[in-house]
Amino acid sequence: MVQTPRDGTTTDDHSAGAAYDSIAEGYAALNETSLLNEYYNRPALIQLAGDVTGHRILDAACGSGPILSDLRDRGAVATGFDSSQGMLDQARQRLGTDADLFVADLADALPFADDTFDDVIVSQALHYLEDWAPTLAEFHRVLKPGGRLIVSEEHPSATFLGDRLSGGTSEYFGTRPRTEEWTLGAGTAELTFWDRPLHAMTDAFAAAGFRIETISEPAPAAAAYERFPDEFENRPSGRFLAFLLFVLIAVEI
Ligand SMILES: C[S@@+](CC[C@H](N)C(=O)[O-])C[C@H]1O[C@@H](n2cnc3c(N)ncnc32)[C@H](O)[C@@H]1O
Repeated sequence: MVQTPRDGTTTDDHSAGAAYDSIAEGYAALNETSLLNEYYNRPALIQLAGDVTGHRILDAACGSGPILSDLRDRGAVATGFDSSQGMLDQARQRLGTDADLFVADLADALPFADDTFDDVIVSQALHYLEDWAPTLAEFHRVLKPGGRLIVSEEHPSATFLGDRLSGGTSEYFGTRPRTEEWTLGAGTAELTFWDRPLHAMTDAFAAAGFRIETISEPAPAAAAYERFPDEFENRPSGRFLAFLLFVLIAVEI
């Protein structure tokens, strides 16, 4: 399908950046209020990041900037990039004119010297890439030795079970595309996700020079139970399977 941006024009650009341009306003609004983003992913990432005072942080594929905003509030010097200008416009509205934001693609070389950042964060974006190797190599290059790569991804069991429970026939042991159509706000976009098994993730991290420090299957923030009581009716643990978070340490290769 063609993407349908808010201004009514159409484009044959099938990149994720063009897709997010079509839904930027609606996605930013959803991200600010949804159980998965506002009450689960963002607080879990911030908790994992811990004390970031004075850290120089790169938020890769920062979207509308909710995580970058939190990091900055906690004393980090944060830079963000995204391939969608529309999402960066949303980030700029949130973060102000002095925010350090630029358009770039996760698949390309980063415009930074070696050993620049204390931390790189990439949240819910690596799954738009079939091959993680060049991106992880760039993250490793721009991280200081011993720096952290903090990743939030879709839980591989959740993507596999989600497909099977909805009648799909996907095989867990393979890197496979999944296409969804999202209508958010006035725009519609077709997005292709590259699902993969857990070992493909951890193998890619190891090959790029990262040691796993933490794997987290986080609980939602406490406020989620009051805000979304129906979601927890049949979940006595108060938890659900959705995202998997990693803290990875850049080691010498
Ligand atoms: C699900 S949103 C997550 C945004 C943000 N990281 C967060 O967690 O709130 C995915 C973001 O990844 C961006 N993105 C997708 N593919 C990209 C690529 N190849 N390079 C840079 N950004 C990309 C999209 O434009 C979008 O802003």
